[in-house]
Amino acid sequence: MALGIYIHIPFCLSKCPYCDFNSIVLDSGLAEEYVKSLLKEIQTFSESQAVSMVAKTIYFGGGTPSILKASQLSEILETVFSSFEVKSDAEISLEANPGTLAKEKVKKLRKSGFNRVSLGVQSFGDKELKILGRAHNSKQVIKSYKILRKYFNNLSLDLIFGIPGQSLKTWSENLNMALKLRPEHLSVYSLTIEEGTPFYYLWKQGKLGLPDEEGVRKMYLEGINLLKAQGYRQYELSNFACKGFECQHNLRYWQGKEYIGFGAGAHSYFQGVRWGNIRGIKEYVELSEKNSLLIDFRERLTQSQKINEFILLGLRMTEGIDLKKLKEDLNFDLEKFKKEEVGELIKKKFLKKEKERLRLSRKGILVSDSIIQKLVP
Ligand SMILES: C[S@@+](CC[C@H](N)C(=O)[O-])C[C@H]1O[C@@H](n2cnc3c(N)ncnc32)[C@H](O)[C@@H]1O
Ligand code: SF4
Repeated sequence: MALGIYIHIPFCLSKCPYCDFNSIVLDSGLAEEYVKSLLKEIQTFSESQAVSMVAKTIYFGGGTPSILKASQLSEILETVFSSFEVKSDAEISLEANPGTLAKEKVKKLRKSGFNRVSLGVQSFGDKELKILGRAHNSKQVIKSYKILRKYFNNLSLDLIFGIPGQSLKTWSENLNMALKLRPEHLSVYSLTIEEGTPFYYLWKQGKLGLPDEEGVRKMYLEGINLLKAQGYRQYELSNFACKGFECQHNLRYWQGKEYIGFGAGAHSYFQGVRWGNIRGIKEYVELSEKNSLLIDFRERLTQSQKINEFILLGLRMTEGIDLKKLKEDLNFDLEKFKKEEVGELIKKKFLKKEKERLRLSRKGILVSDSIIQKLVP
């Protein structure tokens, strides 16, 4: 049975004011305990399975996985190798932050089996990095990238647009700086203001100084155009890749394929069941030490949840959804159930239908949320 494996590392150098990912500031003692719990969770899960499972992708996400020692990261990876059959050409990704990547460490990581790194750059401007509360500056970005490039031939950069005070000009400068480095892959995210974060409270008080909606849309379009002109194919709303370098792990999520997540707050989808681990990092470690269940929730997806996910996730990909597959696998005829909406959106050129595939048009991509919402049952 083919799988994606996700490993959550919930530690960071500092907590960014816009971030609501499950992460805390590094506590080395807790991190050591956490790694032990992770190893135990991976082994226990694989021992409990009757069928042989083949990992096609492994993804270390965070938090900041690269904050751990190389020896800790390779121990976790070794445990995955000994617990699952891992395809010889498996994509093995590590999320990393600039400033956490000394040369010797990067060399060891490559040797231990990682073959793709996603570097959280966010911006090349020191002023913007400061506003984002990042723990690194632009010099460290370039330094980390150069070290990574010596050992890895599959690199991705994350950038954020719509940063407070950002203009179309500074965003274009960021894109051009990223393009100069020639990464194989780029993720560009529009800054979202997540409830409960320091940015959220500033925004509520009108003190954040965000660019307006139209300005943010122009930045997104600028990204799409510049990256396309440089040979990157947009394969998902926020993701662009040189041919053959699309992130295989994330594609699994969007295609509704199976994956197992390990670590605090990690989610899994396997044999029609979705479950999530307990989110608290200390709680996760304590439960693991007591050999207790780590799971917070478990649900068998209903037919209508499966249909919703098929449409919601599938339309994020530029190749769109296969209407025939939706009919055959989930017994749902979207063109029949949403006849008016589909017809109208095609007529207004927000959607395109080619053969049996339905996808967002270039115009639709810019307002994807509202279009996709109209199509879910
Ligand atoms: C799981 S985060 C971790 C990566 C790494 N810790 C870092 O911050 O560089 C993955 C990416 O999500 C994006 N991200 C995080 N919070 C965001 C937000 N509020 N709005 C938009 N993008 C966000 C960033 O680009 C980040 O690199
Ligand atoms: S480094 Fe990444 S995961 Fe950590 S707090 Fe900042 S955005 Fe969140």
